[in-house]
Amino acid sequence: MKTLEVDLGSRSYPIYIGGGLIDQPVLFSACEKATSIYIVTNTTIEPLYADRLTKTLETLGKPVRRIVLPDGESYKDWKHLQLIFDALLTHGADRQTMLVALGGGVIGDMTGFAAASFMRGIRFIQVPTTLLAQVDSSVGGKTGINHPLGKNMIGAFHQPEAVIADLNTLKTLPPRELSAGLAEVIKHGVIADAQFLDWIEAHTQALLTCDTEAMAHAVLRSCEIKSAVVSADEREGGVRATLNFGHTFGHAIEAGMGYGKWLHGEAVGCGMVLGANLSCRLGQITQAELDRLTNIIQSMKLPIEPPKFGTERYMELMQVDKKTEGGTIRYVLLEKIGKAHIKSVPDATVIETLKASGAA
Ligand code: NAD
Ligand code: GLY
Repeated sequence: MKTLEVDLGSRSYPIYIGGGLIDQPVLFSACEKATSIYIVTNTTIEPLYADRLTKTLETLGKPVRRIVLPDGESYKDWKHLQLIFDALLTHGADRQTMLVALGGGVIGDMTGFAAASFMRGIRFIQVPTTLLAQVDSSVGGKTGINHPLGKNMIGAFHQPEAVIADLNTLKTLPPRELSAGLAEVIKHGVIADAQFLDWIEAHTQALLTCDTEAMAHAVLRSCEIKSAVVSADEREGGVRATLNFGHTFGHAIEAGMGYGKWLHGEAVGCGMVLGANLSCRLGQITQAELDRLTNIIQSMKLPIEPPKFGTERYMELMQVDKKTEGGTIRYVLLEKIGKAHIKSVPDATVIETLKASGAA
């Protein structure tokens, strides 16, 4: 097992990465002070892992209950968030109650937001079971739900007490979900570590077949990069925005298609192709670098062609982005492979990029 620390002063917490971790009570020591523990999960993950996690948590001598939500991005909304509060209030949860998010990014984001807001804030633990959640969403304390007009528009920063990434859970992940997670792994290389991107490119097959050693490295390096960025800029005043490379386009694709049609990682993969194309158009990376990045994304079985919403609709969808300031959309661009920055770009250049990429 490897342990990393997200360094946030009094809100610092460990990330544990290894096989079989959901069976180890010692990793859940943050629950020792809890009056009760609620596992929040969904109908797909519950039959796979909830019994084992319940057994582990019961050794701590607290009541352990489950809240099981329907599975899917389309349920990441107010109505289904309310189900968490309904269950907590029905069973007499209090301020010392602990939530444990068992699932992918949807469960992690919703559980985190429920923890941020229930009785003005209770503690929670992330047990991410998708690659995307292990390399990205479980770390950093961004929590929330979607609004029909915009992705992740309602939420809060609320850091977990621990992130427990059990690599064995990735073995049951469908291939399409694995590829979606690989999009965020690629993102970490592209924005922060060119050598890591070389490694990803050289290990495409191992990653696509969920090879244990390759996965361990991909999760570890991604968490190192993400935790360093979050430690430097928890509330996204600056550098953290670079973690959104590909997301302005990607969120537009997700919202425009209807949540759940494209997986978040698929939209981010395609969004990174658009973001790299825009960076190339602005002379920041070469055509050869754009082609290389496009090939890496495609080789991970991710879509590289955006849906044809038309440029006007894309611009409208992209306006609803948390990076937009005073009506001006700000894009994460590549300064070079391994380094990103954020800036505004003339609409005409974005529209050219969308047209050239087949989005019109
Ligand atoms: P997801 O949570 O929908 O999980 C994907 C699918 O895999 C679901 O059907 C789920 O039930 C299933 N699943 C989960 N674990 C499994 C396992 N071990 N075996 C078999 N099936 C399993 O999707 P995701 O890709 O994990 O997360 C996407 C969400 O994360 C989006 O809502 C996105 O906005 C959010 N996100 C948040 C952050 C953040 O910083 N908070 C970062 C990136 C993404
Ligand atoms: N996934 C982007 C962030 O956590 O900031």
